[in-house]
Formats: sequence, C-alpha cells, structure tokens
Amino acid sequence: MNPPRTLLITGIGRRIGQHLAAHYLAQGDRVIGTYLRHTSDVAALEAQGLIALPCDLTQAAEVERLAAGIAEHTSTLDALVHNASVWFDDAQCAQDADKISALYTVHVTAPIALTLRLQQALPAESRQGQAGRLVVFITDAQCLSGGSEHAHYFASKAAAESAARSLAKKLKPHTRVNTIAPGLILFHPHDTASAREHRLAQNLLPFEPGAAVIAQTLDYLLACPALDGARIKVDCGYTA
Ligand SMILES: NC(=O)c1ccc[n+]([C@@H]2O[C@H](COP(=O)([O-])OP(=O)(O)OC[C@H]3O[C@@H](n4cnc5c(N)ncnc54)[C@H](OP(=O)(O)O)[C@@H]3O)[C@@H](O)[C@H]2O)c1
Repeated sequence: MNPPRTLLITGIGRRIGQHLAAHYLAQGDRVIGTYLRHTSDVAALEAQGLIALPCDLTQAAEVERLAAGIAEHTSTLDALVHNASVWFDDAQCAQDADKISALYTVHVTAPIALTLRLQQALPAESRQGQAGRLVVFITDAQCLSGGSEHAHYFASKAAAESAARSLAKKLKPHTRVNTIAPGLILFHPHDTASAREHRLAQNLLPFEPGAAVIAQTLDYLLACPALDGARIKVDCGYTA
C-alpha cells in the first residue's frame, strides 16, 4: 500500500472536483479542497475527512490567504490540482466584461499565483532528480483548436496550457507541471437529448465517460515520475 499523500484541489464543490476529492479520500490520502459556495456536498466530503477551505479565486487576497495559511493544515504537499473553472460563452462575455476577467483569473492568473506562493510557503524538494510535487492544470481538449461560441473560454484555457509549460521550466526539478485536457466528461443536467446526441456523434467513442476518467488520468500522473510538461487529452477521440 502506498503511503498517504496530501493533495490540494481547487473547486471540490461539484462534479469533477467533488469526484476527485472523494476518490483520494477513499484511498486514505489527505485532501485539502477549496470551495466557492459551502454546500451539502462540501459538508459530505468534510464528513469523509476533507479539509475544506473557502477561496474565491477571482480575489487575489483570498488566494494569498489560502497559500499563507496552508502550513496550518499540512507540512507537505504532494499535488496541487487546478480544477476550478468558469464556463461563460461569448454572448455572456459581451454583456459583462467582468466575466472575461474571471475566465483569465480563475484559469490562469490565480493558478500561477497559487503555485508560486505555495512553493514559498511549503517548498517542494527534488530527490535524486525526481520532483517532490506534481502540479496539474485541468484545461480543455478543444482549447488549442478553439470553438465559435467560446472564444474567451478557450483562449483562457489555452493560456493555462502555456502557463503550465512555463511553470514546468521555472520550477524544475522540485516540481513537475502537467495538464489534463478533457473533452466531454459530464453533460449538464439542462443539456437536451438532441444536444447530447449531437455532441456524442462528434466523438470516436460516443459515450459520456464521467469524472472517473479524470481520476484515472490523475492517478497516472501521480504514479509516473517521468511526466513533466506533458498534456494528456481525455476526450473519447473528439473529431469535430
Ligand atoms: N465537465 C466536462 O465535461 C469538462 C469538459 C472540459 C473541461 N472540463 C474542465 O474540468 C474541470 C472541472 O469541470 P466541471 O465540469 O466539474 O466544472 P464545474 O461543474 O463548472 O465546477 C467548477 C468548480 O469551480 C468552482 N469555481 C467557480 N468559480 C470559482 C471561483 N471564482 N473561485 C473558486 N472556485 C470557483 C465551482 O465552485 P462552486 O461549486 O462553489 O460554484 C465549482 O466547484 C474544469 O477545469 C473544466 O473546465 C470539464
């Protein structure tokens, strides 16, 4: 059995982040998770052992407070997973410039700041050339090819891909930085049957995989010490 690890995961309140937190808690790891809204789902994870910390990633002072206070909760940090996300389309961005700002702050600026600030607060170390910390940005499989309705969203996720490569260079050899680029993982409850059918037809493998495939991919990144500056697409062979 592997020794327990400590993971910090942003946005554990629902869907993929919630699944990741539950997955690692069930393995006996220590999970520190950030939330925006404290819901019954967050409380349920706390009952399983989650250390839940509030943090609005659009607020630089809250990111600073999270990083500065991390040593109160743990003396080691094996993995940092930038999962939190906002999903605004171009029509919403055209109505409200704050949404454009939020896309870049949540996906790029705050993750860079949190990664660097945590290295000061709780330094990672290299042993025999291997990294003591894994940082993962969860981006989007489509962000480099783009999409007609989500230019700002995809551009911010592409910037996150670039940020990950830069941080891999900046933080070597004590920290390795990789990205998981999901395609369709989970539909939203409001997605219609025809929209689901249309979206699934764009995949070589036309099924809704669910959050477990992101946990499987993160398991692989955690287990394989030679992966650094890598991007793993998890998209059922998206072809459109
Ligand atoms: N699901 C998919 O099919 C899919 C496809 C491609 C990429 N992805 C990527 O995979 C990751 C997880 O996806 P998901 O579908 O689980 O996302 P989601 O349902 O949109 O959840 C996003 C999480 O981010 C948190 N969040 C939003 N704004 C925040 C802020 N200002 N500060 C702190 N936290 C904030 C939310 O908190 P609250 O719960 O409190 O609102 C929520 O827990 C995201 O990075 C997403 O872009 C997912």
